[in-house]
Amino acid sequence: MYRTHTNGELRICDKDKNVTLCGWVQKVRNLGGMTFVDLRDRYGITQLVFDIDKNKELTQQAQALGREYVIQIDGKVAERSNKNSKMPTGDIEIIVDKIVVLNISELPPFTIEDDTDGGDELRLKYRYLDLRRNNIKKNFELRHQMALEIRNYLSSQKFVEIETPFLMKSTPEGARDFVVPSRMNQGQFYALPQSPQIFKQLLMVAGFDKYFQIVRCFRDEDLRADRQPEFTQIDCEMAFVEQEDVLNTFEGMAKHLFKTIKNIEFDAPFPRIPFSEAMELYGTDKPDLRFDMKIVKLKEKISNKGFKVFDDAQYIGGICVEKCAYYSRKELDNLTDFVKKPQIGAQGLIYIKYNEDGTLKSSIDKFYNENELKEIAQLFGANVGDLMLLAAGEKNNTLNALNELRLEMANRLGLRDKNKYAPLWVVDFPLLEWDNETDRFYAKHHPFTSPKNEDIPLLETTPEVVKANAYDLVINGVEIGGGSIRIHNQELQKKIFNILGFSDEDAQKQFGFLMNAFKYGAPPHGGVAFGFDRWVALFAGTDSIRDVIAFPKNNTGRDIMNDAPSIINKTQLNELNICLAK
Ligand code: AMO
Repeated sequence: MYRTHTNGELRICDKDKNVTLCGWVQKVRNLGGMTFVDLRDRYGITQLVFDIDKNKELTQQAQALGREYVIQIDGKVAERSNKNSKMPTGDIEIIVDKIVVLNISELPPFTIEDDTDGGDELRLKYRYLDLRRNNIKKNFELRHQMALEIRNYLSSQKFVEIETPFLMKSTPEGARDFVVPSRMNQGQFYALPQSPQIFKQLLMVAGFDKYFQIVRCFRDEDLRADRQPEFTQIDCEMAFVEQEDVLNTFEGMAKHLFKTIKNIEFDAPFPRIPFSEAMELYGTDKPDLRFDMKIVKLKEKISNKGFKVFDDAQYIGGICVEKCAYYSRKELDNLTDFVKKPQIGAQGLIYIKYNEDGTLKSSIDKFYNENELKEIAQLFGANVGDLMLLAAGEKNNTLNALNELRLEMANRLGLRDKNKYAPLWVVDFPLLEWDNETDRFYAKHHPFTSPKNEDIPLLETTPEVVKANAYDLVINGVEIGGGSIRIHNQELQKKIFNILGFSDEDAQKQFGFLMNAFKYGAPPHGGVAFGFDRWVALFAGTDSIRDVIAFPKNNTGRDIMNDAPSIINKTQLNELNICLAK
């Protein structure tokens, strides 16, 4: 037997027990006569002690141990004279009488501690060492617990977990597909699923009624902190449901996770905000509701005073930041630089300070007198001591900049507490989105999303205003999930494909198998998919989903540990009948 206990297990009640432990050497401290070794495994750290006066040879053996050596020890549990209340095993130590070195280790390229000295790329290259660090490792225990609770909840609601293929037909869903060449069907390619969307709809046609799957999805898109080329969804679908049924079921799942994992109860229903309202009040379809600071629309009320920036603008809006009127010129310049960054794209920033003495000071004093500024302050509901920040320009750009500014100010003021959660549903998304570049409509969610019944006639006249039965779950400004009620009627599906620019023939080629299935009694159905990595990251309190994925890719989509993607040899290419252009 390699071990009798783990390194996180022994307590004072185990005093005088003879034990055998295994693990990695975290640290060796040589304090003259006494030598201490911290022995680590997944469960914790136990202190080993060696007394040179009692056993010189063994103590010297301990002193020679290197970091990350794998050892086994025999010894007796003793009460520590110097207790460490910060460690669960801090009341005891092991008086060792035998060490066996199970494996030696080269010096690791960074320290295996919560506060490591290793940079991002180095840690990714040696990910198996990074994963030994407790603060990373605990994310995977959390991930496991969450997966368990999701399965518990959905099973209790009669959902069945069913696997769907990874090698499938390439179907346009939004992002680019990863494609896989077929050896047996030369010149033809599979695509890896961007999501199991079509399969889950087919499972509804098949009568499964309630399906889910914790499943890997693949999208060839530009990467960010919350995007990986392969990621995991909690993918779900239900038959004979309306939007309300789906929202209730999955609000139940979210509440179950909050309760079982975070011990947080949400008694009230999650707020539901229409897409248009989210855009107007927060400048985004994923608002962070942990704090207020709503955007105030000003255009009609404050232009025509001869200030060209305002008069020419399609839109003027602003936010009121409480108790920040003390901001210095330098701080305001710094904020202006922030909103002018290319990725944020505002032309500039205007401020109005409601000074503590009741006077108003602004960067537009030339155009607006004290009374007029007071009126603007009233539009914001501002109080003495508050700072108003205004931006003007093209509507969508300006709203986007105000959203970024709102988040930035909240970060500066510490209003985005990681231990506080503000979930909401965003509903009533538009069905379609017009793209000027390609001069055509795209599905805002995906092509299988149903329009609101009452809006169906508008498909003929003003498709851009048609709303969809689509919804997103947003928590703390992160899009955790999204879904919709689907079209289950062949004719309507055909019409939507046409609006999206697919001829009947194209649609048949791309989605024929779904359209054919709909001929055989498709039930009304709908569903949702949640980004599992994002949800785990949110509960783990980390900003990057990389921290909750065991072997993630870097920002350029590379696995720098195993050096993928990589060139394949000529024989492989020949077998696939693929010839590289360069
Ligand atoms: P959608 O495309 O909105 O919907 O995806 C659902 C959720 O998956 C997460 N997500 C990602 N997470 C990490 N990296 C990525 N690259 C990435 N892309 C998406 C997000 C997102 O909310 N089939 C539909 C769902 C449905 O209609 O039922 C779908 O995939 O959290």
